[in-house]
Amino acid sequence: MCSKRTMLYVCLIAGLAMALALAGPSLGQNYSTATEAPSGYDNQPNGLTDQATFSMDRGKFEEVEAIGDGLGPIFNAQSCRECHQNPVTGSSSQVKEFRAGHHDSTGKFVGATAFLADNTVTIPNRSLINQRAICPAVDTITVNGVQQTFNFPQTQGQERITTAETILALRMSSNTLGDGFIESVSDQTLLNLASAQCANTGGAICGEALKVAVLEASGALAVGRFGWKDQHASLLSFSSDAYLNEMGISNRLPPNNVDVTRLCDVVPDPNDNTPDSEGLNDVDHFARFIRATKVPPRDTALAASSDGVAGATLFHNVGCDICHVSSLTTAPAGASVAAGAFTVPASLGNKIFHPYSDFLLHNVGTGDGIVQTGGQETANKMRTPPLWGVRTRTELLHDGRSVRFYDAIQQHRGEAQPVTNNFNSLSTTQQNQLITFLRSL
Ligand code: HEC
Ligand code: HEC
Repeated sequence: MCSKRTMLYVCLIAGLAMALALAGPSLGQNYSTATEAPSGYDNQPNGLTDQATFSMDRGKFEEVEAIGDGLGPIFNAQSCRECHQNPVTGSSSQVKEFRAGHHDSTGKFVGATAFLADNTVTIPNRSLINQRAICPAVDTITVNGVQQTFNFPQTQGQERITTAETILALRMSSNTLGDGFIESVSDQTLLNLASAQCANTGGAICGEALKVAVLEASGALAVGRFGWKDQHASLLSFSSDAYLNEMGISNRLPPNNVDVTRLCDVVPDPNDNTPDSEGLNDVDHFARFIRATKVPPRDTALAASSDGVAGATLFHNVGCDICHVSSLTTAPAGASVAAGAFTVPASLGNKIFHPYSDFLLHNVGTGDGIVQTGGQETANKMRTPPLWGVRTRTELLHDGRSVRFYDAIQQHRGEAQPVTNNFNSLSTTQQNQLITFLRSL
């Protein structure tokens, strides 16, 4: 790496990457008895639930909701699977979401104001813009077992924004397979990772660990790790948020217990309100399904090929794994995570997994300008996306702006600039080997 042609700074960063990556799983917790997390695109559980329970929970995640179930009034899709399916239920897809907002006079990000029903209804300060609505429409629907007529032939329910919203952004749908392992990593592991990363790069790469409210723990704080902005720390919180904001189905966890608007709404809130024979709501089934999934598997042939093996070393040597951390270990069974809301079960405890992420927010020059749960400094930061399963993605980066791995790497500037420079100083053969490694993930 550190040939005469290479700049000293480049060698320095690469050396630090080596030191960091050699530390491996001990960045955080190091349990000698830790075993590998099970992997597979095979619709089988990781051991958290049995196959019958897993298939039933998956059925809930795949269920198509209708107006009588509380769908909408504004929404993006009728089932979780519509956006999380490629190549199996739970993973990612090409579906993109639309976010918008503007800066106020002090330069602070403010979510968009949406107008509905010929400007008679206003939804202020919400960066997510839903792109479907249940009206205008006329239909016969069943609400809590009672048939009624849904009669809104003239009400225009779609959200409209104006040119006052100067920040427009798209977000790709993320993978959720293996997320139970991510949830089971202790906050301290991520905090240690953040401080080691910053210290070992002399302050050049300092990911931000964001503390976010865990909805089922009455808003107690934990380190966020899910979503492009690290907006949630728990899978139950994310499921509750997604059920309301993607599908318009209000559920028991505040603030998601009321619909965003009552326009054309005939189903009482919260929509997901009838516990089943297990005492669970839909949101509990979604969270249990995701927690029970196996991690995305490698393409073992490509991983074992000589180019794939050489590429893995180069990925490490140039410093990609300073952020795209190759191995993490979950907290032991019985440990409590997500501000005490989730106790790590045996199937998820003390497991080594390979997400290729630090789950921290970084400014790599691609930021979308949107602020969600973090402070204003997060506007142009994005979470390092896990690269497991990246071979199934056809559009890369949060907004899908790159279609080739090479181009996605070139987009890395800001904190990642020294690493991008390292990549660019590799020979074409070496660059292709590194890309072969990405194609094996
Ligand atoms: C319209 C498409 C769409 C639907 C429907 C949808 N999602 Fe998502 N999902 C996304 C997008 C886009 C993201 C990335 C969100 C972000 O960070 O802005 C995401 C992210 C997630 C994540 C975080 C994954 C991670 O590791 O960061 C979870 C968990 C999740 N969704 C669960 C669900 C559940 C449960 C449902 C059904 C209630 C659902 N989603 C419905 C598009 C969708
Ligand atoms: C400073 C931290 C950092 C470093 C170093 C870094 N990345 Fe990233 N990477 C990110 C972030 C943050 C994103 C998301 C950016 C976005 O979507 O706007 C990302 C996105 C990606 C993606 C797109 C993934 C997807 O699902 O769309 C790929 C591929 C990728 N990086 C590969 C690499 C490679 C290869 C290297 C080394 C040459 C590297 N990265 C170095 C932080 C980093």
